[in-house]
Amino acid sequence: VNSDEIISITEHLEKLFAIAIAKAYPQYSDTAAVVAPVGNASAKFGDYQCNNAMGLAKKFKEAGINKPPREIATEIQKHCPSSPLIDKLEVAGAGFVNVFLNKDYAVGALSNLLRKGVKPPRVPKKRILIDFSSPNIAKQMHVGHLRSTIIGESISRLLEFLEHDVLRINHLGDWGTQFGMLIAHLEDCFPNFLNESPPIGDLQAFYKESKKRFDEDEEFKKRAYNRVVTLQSGEPNSIKAWQQICDVSRIEFQSIYDRLDVKITERGESFYQSRMLSVVEFLRNNNLLELDEGREIMWPDDTKTGIPLTIVKSDGGFTYDTSDMAAIRHRIEEEKVDWIIYVVDSGQSTHFKAIFKAAKRSGILDPDSHRVDHVNFGLVLGEDGKKFKTRSGDTVKLSDLLDEGLKRSMDQLRERGRDQVLSPEELRAAQESVAYGCIKYTDLCHNRISDYVFSFDKMLEDRGNTAVYLLYAYTRICSIARNSGADFSDLNKVLDTFNITLEHEKEWKLAKTLLKLNDILIKCAKDLLLHFLCEFCYEVCTVFTEFYDNCYCIEKDKSGKILKVNHSRILMCEATAAVLRQCFAILGLKPVNKI
Ligand code: ARG
Repeated sequence: VNSDEIISITEHLEKLFAIAIAKAYPQYSDTAAVVAPVGNASAKFGDYQCNNAMGLAKKFKEAGINKPPREIATEIQKHCPSSPLIDKLEVAGAGFVNVFLNKDYAVGALSNLLRKGVKPPRVPKKRILIDFSSPNIAKQMHVGHLRSTIIGESISRLLEFLEHDVLRINHLGDWGTQFGMLIAHLEDCFPNFLNESPPIGDLQAFYKESKKRFDEDEEFKKRAYNRVVTLQSGEPNSIKAWQQICDVSRIEFQSIYDRLDVKITERGESFYQSRMLSVVEFLRNNNLLELDEGREIMWPDDTKTGIPLTIVKSDGGFTYDTSDMAAIRHRIEEEKVDWIIYVVDSGQSTHFKAIFKAAKRSGILDPDSHRVDHVNFGLVLGEDGKKFKTRSGDTVKLSDLLDEGLKRSMDQLRERGRDQVLSPEELRAAQESVAYGCIKYTDLCHNRISDYVFSFDKMLEDRGNTAVYLLYAYTRICSIARNSGADFSDLNKVLDTFNITLEHEKEWKLAKTLLKLNDILIKCAKDLLLHFLCEFCYEVCTVFTEFYDNCYCIEKDKSGKILKVNHSRILMCEATAAVLRQCFAILGLKPVNKI
C-alpha cells in the first residue's frame, strides 16, 4: 500500500500479521489475526496491538508443547512483512506485538484526504435491503418507529457510503383485516370518497370509531368482513377506499420523514398479496404446512419446538408471518439481495428468529450466501423510567415531539444570545440542526440494544458526548481557517506550498485519531452498531481540543493582529472538520456555519 490507497489500518495490519503467523507457524496458518487500536492513554505501547501470541500459546499447550507467548510474539514480529504504515514493532507485556505507526504514511494519508475528500475504505460490494421505519396505517407512528427510522436511516447512510447497493424499504402495515371495518366506516361517513379525498382529520379517532361499530353492530361487522374479501380480490371501489385511507396516514408519515431528512421507498405488506398466495402454495407443496385447529402452521425448524408460524388462519386469511415469509422470498429470489437488515424493536425478536429459521428450512434462504440480521433495539423510556408516554398516558405523537424539540432548542439559542447575532435564516437553521440533531444523536449514541431515557434537558447539554457539543465544536473548528486571514478555499493549492508536519506530540495524536476513521466505519458496518461512530466523533473533538490548547494555529500580538499562520496546523483543523463532516453525514447531523 501507499498513502493514496484508502484502507482500514486494522484490516491492513491483520493481513500482515496473518502472513507473519502463517510463516512462523505453518501448522496454524488458518489463525485469524487479531489487531486492535490501543486506547490513547498508553501511547508508549504503540498505536495498534496484535494479541495472537496468547491464543497460539494455548494451542501449543493443547498439543503438548510449552511455548511462552513472548517467544511466539517475537517470532510473529520477526516474520511480519514490512509496510509503509509501520514505523516499528515491539514485543511487550504478556506477549503483545505493538505497532507504531509511521509518520510519513500518516502525512501522506491526511494530505490525500484533504486533496480528495474523505473516501470510503474498499469493501466487497453487496446488494442490501434495509427494512426500517415501517409504521402501520391508521395507527399512531410511535417512538419505536422513530427509533427504527433513525437507526435504519443511519445504517443506510453508512452502507451507502461504503458503496454498497442499498434498497431502503418501508414495510408499511397497510394490509390486513382492520381495513374491512375502515372501508365500511368510510363508505358511511364519506359516501363521496370515490370522487374526493375524505376530509379525515384524525385517522386514529376514525379507527377507534370504526372499531367501536365493529364490536357493537352485527350488520356492520358483516359488511366489514365482506370488505376484506372485496379488497383482497381487487374490487376497484374497495381499492379506492383503501387508497384514500392510506393516503391520510402517508401524508403524516411523510412529514416526519421530511423533517428528519429520511429517504425511504414504500413497499407495504399489500405489495405481497399475490406473493403470499404463491408462498403458501410453495410451502404447501413442500409439505411444510401442518393443520392445527383449522389453521395452517409451519414449524421454524425440524425439531418442531417453540412457537410455530401461522401461515393461513382458520378463516383462510393471512397473517404478519405470511407477509414476512412472502417478503423474504421476494427479496432473495426477485430482488436478488445478498443481505437483508430488519430494523425492528427487540419485542419482535422471536418473530424474526422464527422467520429466518423457516426461510432456511424451506430453502428460501441459504445462510452460506445470504446474510439476514434483525437489528433490534430497546425501549424509549420517560424520565420516570417507565415506557415513554404523555402525561395523560397516551402514546406521544411524533410531530408533537419534534415541535417540542424545536421549541427547546430555540430557548437554548436565545439563552445564549444567539438570536442577537444570527440572521433569522441562520437562527432557524441552527434551531433545526440542534433540535433534530439531538433527537437523532441521543438515539444513536447508546448501544441500541439497551433502553434509553428520553430527556430534552440531557440531550441539549453542551458538555459530554452530545449533539450540541459536537455541533458547536465542529463550527468552531471550521472557523479557524476562515479567521486566519489566509486563503484555505483550495486545499490542493495550499498543499502544493505547505506540508503537514506532525512534530508536536498533540499533532501526532490528532493525526492518528483521524486515521482511525476507516477502522471505525468497518466496525460499525460489521456489527451494525452506530454508537462506535458517535464515540469516535467525541474522541476526535476531545483530542482536537488537546491539540488546539497546546499548538498555536495562529499567533497574534496583543492588539489581536495576526503575526503568523501555521499552515500545517490549520490543515490539521481542516482534516478534522472533513472527518467530522463525514461522520455527521452518516449520523444525520446537519452542521451549520454559524451557531
Ligand atoms: N409494521 C410493523 C410494526 O409496526 C413493523 C414491520 C417490520 N418489518 C417487517 N418486515 N416485519 O410492528
